[in-house]
Amino acid sequence: MTATQDAEGTLGASVKLIADALKSGSTVDHGQLEATALGLAIVGSDHVIRANAILDAGRFFYVTGRPEIGIRVAEKAKSFALETAQVAATISAYNLIGVCSADSGDLPRAMEAYAAGLNLAQKTGDRGQEAKLWQNTGGALNYGGLFRESMACSQRVLDLGDVSPVATSLAAIAYASIALCSLNLDEISLGISAIEKSLALAPEPNDAHSIQNRVLSENYYTRLLIEISDFDGARMHAKMAREFANKSMSPRAGIQASVAEGLAEAFSGDLDVGISRLTATLALAQKLKLASREVLVALVKALEYAGRHDEALKYLREMLAQQRQTAEANVLRHVHLHLVQLHAVDANSTIEDVKQIMRRMETHVEVIEGRVAKVELVKQKQELFRARIEAMERLAVAAELRDDSTGEHSYRVGRMACLLAKEAGCDDETIFMIDIAARLHDVGKIGIPDGILLKPGKLNGSERLVMEMHAEIGADVLVKSEIPHIRMAEEIARHHHERWDGTGYPAKIGGREIPLAVRITTLADVYDALTHKRPYKEAWTAEASLSEILSLRGTHFDPELTDLFLALVSRLRREHRDLDHHLGEAARASPFIQARGKIWETLKLAKDEYQQQFQRTMDLQR
Ligand SMILES: [Fe+2]
Ligand SMILES: [Fe+2]
Repeated sequence: MTATQDAEGTLGASVKLIADALKSGSTVDHGQLEATALGLAIVGSDHVIRANAILDAGRFFYVTGRPEIGIRVAEKAKSFALETAQVAATISAYNLIGVCSADSGDLPRAMEAYAAGLNLAQKTGDRGQEAKLWQNTGGALNYGGLFRESMACSQRVLDLGDVSPVATSLAAIAYASIALCSLNLDEISLGISAIEKSLALAPEPNDAHSIQNRVLSENYYTRLLIEISDFDGARMHAKMAREFANKSMSPRAGIQASVAEGLAEAFSGDLDVGISRLTATLALAQKLKLASREVLVALVKALEYAGRHDEALKYLREMLAQQRQTAEANVLRHVHLHLVQLHAVDANSTIEDVKQIMRRMETHVEVIEGRVAKVELVKQKQELFRARIEAMERLAVAAELRDDSTGEHSYRVGRMACLLAKEAGCDDETIFMIDIAARLHDVGKIGIPDGILLKPGKLNGSERLVMEMHAEIGADVLVKSEIPHIRMAEEIARHHHERWDGTGYPAKIGGREIPLAVRITTLADVYDALTHKRPYKEAWTAEASLSEILSLRGTHFDPELTDLFLALVSRLRREHRDLDHHLGEAARASPFIQARGKIWETLKLAKDEYQQQFQRTMDLQR
């Protein structure tokens, strides 16, 4: 920071550079713009102008599709706003960190930022900011497949409409979000009533943004009408989607309109026309790297309807491969960023560099081994591992949220596995590692489509095969993560569904061929899954779960470990009145779980209110 940089003329020029970039979405040099934004964070004078300009730069990176840079800039805006005691700018910064994180696929980080922003907005009574934050939280939850909670967030926005004009202006978007969630949850009449409200509230669109929103709403409406076999209505709204898309000139809007048209055609009798339109749209979407997943879903739906199951399967596979690739790439990028931060290396360094730094650190640890007391060293190594694993752990919990909305399952499994390892006479190092490694057992669920993860009831044959892929996906991601000492976690992820008699998956290994840490985790995982409610099953009592495990002794589970496990659980149940609470201790220390808990607490209320209100609406319509 130099005197010239701080001069008024320079401040004006910087602010103008950023404002122009944001307005035109122009081809300005990204490095220069980021440097300009970060350089504005000087405490002294013009704090409001500076904070707003930094935020605008962050918004520029978000709208131009560079959310990672957006996060860096928004973080700077946050620390500057905090330092200069600007509440509104701090909340905006949290909001922007959330939007950018969600856009780059980091749901945990987004939720933490939104929870922090909500906390501040509620404390200071800023209802407008609160509404925006709820709207965006809903968007992130929708992206994460948590449709019920997403819907409750939108309801929150609607509730705030009574007291805040900002919230009122968001009502049309909130209703459209509810419609999309309803579509995913198969609650069609709720969806239709929501989209009708949204369209009634939305003013005639006149700018690029509102036209795009309108195309989306018409797309949702079309899909909802198909579900109730109102094909004339579906065709009409698909046509409206097309008209608005033509006005918008945006390729994304064009694709959304084609999806609506293709589906409306396919389901109203013109099967071939609809299917060829969707096939062409898919090619276009893939070429432009836009929304191709949505187009695939639509195409598969139309092909299934036409009875062309083989083709549907081919596209389904493609969809799966694509989702897996995106999810893996996201995880690896976030873990990489985390490692970079942890070891304070240059953010532009490649994965290769990080590997080298890790190697140097390992050698360093070996060198000092002679000097430091052994106990100290072990502790240091353990802390280092714990820190390195953190980003992966949060993503694993996020992947599990669809099954277990509290996010505590992974932690309980880790804790229980660690206690069983102790009973089995493992050394301290193993006992420590298993606690953390077992938390990652289902990280591969990031690569499994929502439709399968969330399906209530039994999976069919091919769905089961897809579901089983989570073991290998998880192991792959862990291998590629470059986190040292990850071996045990990789083995657990890969083999936690193997069985003692060799009839499990994926490798069908059995007996002691299955590593000990894995056999231990399997017991802990099955017990915890049995004793808790999942989308596809009710919770079993502890007694029923234990007798189920006993009945699988020697077939599913290692017989000796089963005996130790049954004794362990009986003892733990005597010692702890609330065993879940005891085992989930580590979960409640996680900032992500805390953020989630806070959002969930507020939403529970909103959900009841919403259901009541919906009940009223239904009654009126009768
Ligand atoms: Fe699993
Ligand atoms: Fe599990």
